[in-house]
Amino acid sequence: MEALKSIALLDSGVGGLTVVKEILDQLPHERIVYFGDTARMPYGPRPQEEVRKFSMQIIDFLQTQDIKLVIVACNSASAAGLPYYQQNVKYPVIGVIEPGVRAALSYTAIKKVGVIGTDGTINSGAYEECIRRLDPQVEIYSMACPLFVLIVENNLITAKETKKVAEEYLKPLKEVGVDVLILGCTHYPLMAEVIQEVMGPKVRLISSAEETAREAKEILKGNNLLNPSDNSCHHRFFVSASPENFVGIGENLINIKVKAYQVILPGI
Ligand code: DGL
Repeated sequence: MEALKSIALLDSGVGGLTVVKEILDQLPHERIVYFGDTARMPYGPRPQEEVRKFSMQIIDFLQTQDIKLVIVACNSASAAGLPYYQQNVKYPVIGVIEPGVRAALSYTAIKKVGVIGTDGTINSGAYEECIRRLDPQVEIYSMACPLFVLIVENNLITAKETKKVAEEYLKPLKEVGVDVLILGCTHYPLMAEVIQEVMGPKVRLISSAEETAREAKEILKGNNLLNPSDNSCHHRFFVSASPENFVGIGENLINIKVKAYQVILPGI
């Protein structure tokens, strides 16, 4: 039965678990199958074409895992080719950019929105395009913060240098006075505390995770694919490098036991 199948999510590493967390909250009866491409992260500095190829390779793997929906829980991978995945996958595929933009637009009172993300996401212009399409009046200020992903993946969020790095990156956005800041990388919600501290309490931080989970729910509902069972779920986690770091950060974040298996993808 289709509805009993899993929701597939992918990211370069632990970032997509911020979306998993929301799925577990909003859709507690759904099974998750997750792939973190930890052997090839970070995706941010890589050419779009390569990120698209890696993502498609992972989606192909996930399609062998009895799934019903794919969530590209990575902004860099969404920016690199969401329409391409949608055309080439037989299940519905959603990304994280538009859901985050919709949330941001609903919160900005002064129509000045900041966006932070990886080099790949910021240089792709995907956020600008989406914001302009939904509200051409909004002023957009973007900044790539490439070190944030490495800080998160290496468990350095509380290191004292981290705040300095954040201050350096965020200074221009603070000076320009945005009232909403989109965390345009799924790793960044893990650093929300330090980002909030630097931006100050008046700036609303937007993680696309909540909106993305809501969109996933709508799609499943609309297609009669919500899992009817209320049994506790068995989730599966796969990574492309050794699982230790992933498991440590993951368990802390999503508060369930995480057992991750290493998959060696061709080409790695
Ligand atoms: N978490 C990803 C994103 O949302 C990828 C970060 C990276 O690997 O550079 O962009």
